[in-house]
Amino acid sequence: MALVNFKQMLRIARKGGYAVAAFNPVDYASMRAMVEAAEEIDAPLIMQTSAKTIKYYGHEPLATWYEQLASDSSVPVTLHLDHGKDLDMIRKCIETGWTSVMIDASDKPFEENMKITRQVLEMATPAGLAIEAEIGEIGGVEEDIIVAEEDAHLANPDEAERFCREFDLGVFAAAIGTAHGYYHGEPKVAFDLIDEIYRRTQTPMALHGGTGLDEETIAKCIELGCAKVNISTNLKHVFVDSFVQYNKNNPTDYEPLKVLGAQFEAMKELFRSKMTEFGGAGKGASMLKEIKESP
Ligand code: 13P
Repeated sequence: MALVNFKQMLRIARKGGYAVAAFNPVDYASMRAMVEAAEEIDAPLIMQTSAKTIKYYGHEPLATWYEQLASDSSVPVTLHLDHGKDLDMIRKCIETGWTSVMIDASDKPFEENMKITRQVLEMATPAGLAIEAEIGEIGGVEEDIIVAEEDAHLANPDEAERFCREFDLGVFAAAIGTAHGYYHGEPKVAFDLIDEIYRRTQTPMALHGGTGLDEETIAKCIELGCAKVNISTNLKHVFVDSFVQYNKNNPTDYEPLKVLGAQFEAMKELFRSKMTEFGGAGKGASMLKEIKESP
C-alpha cells in the first residue's frame, strides 16, 4: 500500500530536514516515469495534477493511472490537486481517489479566502484528505492561472499565523517571492519571511515556482521550513525538447516507441535529479514504514 497520507508525508519530510518533490504530470507516461524514478532512488513522491490536466483527461483516467502505478510501489506516492479553484472539481477529486487537494483562493480578500478554505477543509476532512491552501499571491503563469507581476504580493505573517491556527493544513503555500514559470531576472526569495512564517505557524510550507531556482536557494528554503517543492515548467520543457531532439538526431526514424522511449528516459533523469536535489533520495521506504506503523 503506497497510497499514503499527504499530511503525514510532509511532517516526516520536515522532521527529516528534506522536501518531497511535487511534479505535475502531463500524461500517463510522465506519471509512470516519476514513479519509476522515485522507486529507483527510493524517494517519496507527490504527483500533482493541475486543473487543466483534469479538464483534458477527466478525473477517472487520472485516478486509475495513479492507483495502478502507485498502489504497489515501494515508496510513498500521493495524488494531489494543484491550485484547485473550482469547488465541484475539488469535490470530484475527493470522490475519485486524490489523496489531497489544494484550494487556491489567494486572489480573494483574506476573509473570503478563509471562508472558501474552510469549505474545502469541511469537504476533505471527513474523507481523510489533507489540504494545501495559499495566502499572499504567487506571481507568474501556472496553466490557466495568470498572476501579473503587479498583482503578486507576499504573504503577511500575521495573517499566516491566523490562517494556520484556524486550519489544520497538510502544507501551507504562503507567497514568499517565488513565481511560476521561468524567472525573468533574479528571483527575489524572501528568506526572512519563510523563517518567520514557519516559526510562527509550525506548518510545513510548499515552495511553488521551483523551476529556475538554483540549488542553494532551494536548500535554504528547505532548511527554513519548506517540505514540498513544486516543479512543473521544467517537465514541460523536457517533455517537448526531448521529443524534438530525438527527431533532430534521428531524422529518418519514424518508430514512435523509440521516440517515446527517449522522452521517457529524459523525464526520468529530470525526476531523479530533482528528488535527489531536494534530499528525498534514500528516504522512501523508511517513510513508508513510518507511515504504516503510525497509529
Ligand atoms: P514551476 O512551473 O515554476 O515549476 O512551478 C510549479 C508550481 O509551483 C506548481 O504549483
